[in-house]
Amino acid sequence: MEKQSVGIGLIGLGIVASQVARVLTEKANLLAEQAGCPVVLRKIKVLPQDMSRPQVAEMDAALFTTDDDQFFNTPGIDIIVEAIGGEQPALEYLRRALSGGRYVVTSNKEVVAKHAAELLSLARENGVELRCEASVGGGIPLISPFQHDLVANEIKGIYAIINGTTNYILTRMDKDGLDFASALGQAQQLGYAEADPTNDVEGIDAVYKLAILASLAFKCQVRPDDIYREGISRLSARDFRYAREFGFAIKLLAIAKQSDGSLEVRVHPVFLPQDSFLAKVDGVYNAVLAEGDLVGKVILLGEGAGPLPTSSAVVADVVQAAIDVRRGTDGVGHWRIAGDVALKPMAQVETRYYFRLSTADTAGVLAQIAQVLGDHKISISSAIQKEADSATQAAEIVLMTHPAPESAAQKALAGLERLSVVREVSNLIRVED
Ligand code: HSE
Repeated sequence: MEKQSVGIGLIGLGIVASQVARVLTEKANLLAEQAGCPVVLRKIKVLPQDMSRPQVAEMDAALFTTDDDQFFNTPGIDIIVEAIGGEQPALEYLRRALSGGRYVVTSNKEVVAKHAAELLSLARENGVELRCEASVGGGIPLISPFQHDLVANEIKGIYAIINGTTNYILTRMDKDGLDFASALGQAQQLGYAEADPTNDVEGIDAVYKLAILASLAFKCQVRPDDIYREGISRLSARDFRYAREFGFAIKLLAIAKQSDGSLEVRVHPVFLPQDSFLAKVDGVYNAVLAEGDLVGKVILLGEGAGPLPTSSAVVADVVQAAIDVRRGTDGVGHWRIAGDVALKPMAQVETRYYFRLSTADTAGVLAQIAQVLGDHKISISSAIQKEADSATQAAEIVLMTHPAPESAAQKALAGLERLSVVREVSNLIRVED
């Protein structure tokens, strides 16, 4: 017999969890219609210090507990929603929920990126589900399209702007000519970047999200540690000026693509042609471009963070899970990780490169630089040298190359740094044409 109502247990009371609690309460009628029965919030697990938050005073006090056992033993909880983030204790909560036969909805990218294979098999063993639409791209439907709408495709590649904070910073650097520190300061003032911005600006957040998307799209295990990562903190306003001169924008791109029978997975700043779609995605927006053998190119775009969009994805998962709970089905088959995949070592990845060098302003400098690149079979496609700075006697030389393997680019970089006429290799940025 079908269940007459479905019960929810919520872990956390941060901005996302509070918004989820609000939606579950305020949209109860709509959600009941969609789920086919009432979806009832039965318990919220909070930390002792959360009990003084205003959200607690606004809700029925009996809903709250600070005790794990009391929470997990609450009768009538079918679905556990975890919205605390971070690896622990979230991972232990999810293991306990799934082992106890509870359906799980999580917005936690770190746990899913690192532990999806284990949690999915735990869900399967217990005849329940793990849903994580909110873990990548906030409210943008990104998990569901790969689980459902695109399943008939062989995915060729994913190219994604999946960190709103860095996209905001890069947009300010590009449009307002700000340096990295000022653009980061603005992002912090507006609440986009955290006080410690490391996870966002060093590409760690994007790596978690790419690990999830790549595991889903390529049906294999891609771990965060498998993904090559570079953040945006080395970029300067000068790089943006040169990029524009060459006809490019700079974006932090997460890339997973099939290449010679293996998979390339990397997150780093790239030069993108100014007229490409992703180059025009500005501010805190996220965008994912996926290419399938049948569907061709598909673009998913929207706000990738914030409590309202994230609650949209979390509650959608709750409704889908509630339908399965009501019907007594387990949704198994939504996401299968078949095993490991051959990953292409970064050294073998091939792209074009942009080099920016600070050099002495003397005769023969350009020839010495060209010689180093030539020694590593890297062909120059164009070069810019601006007027030398008379105060420092330094010239700035910028080169664009034809495609070359990363191993050659790194050896050339080391060779350039050894030249006495090169004061500094200020930046090396890969080009995705
Ligand atoms: N910090 C993330 C971003 C949002 O800036 O996109 C949460 O995933």
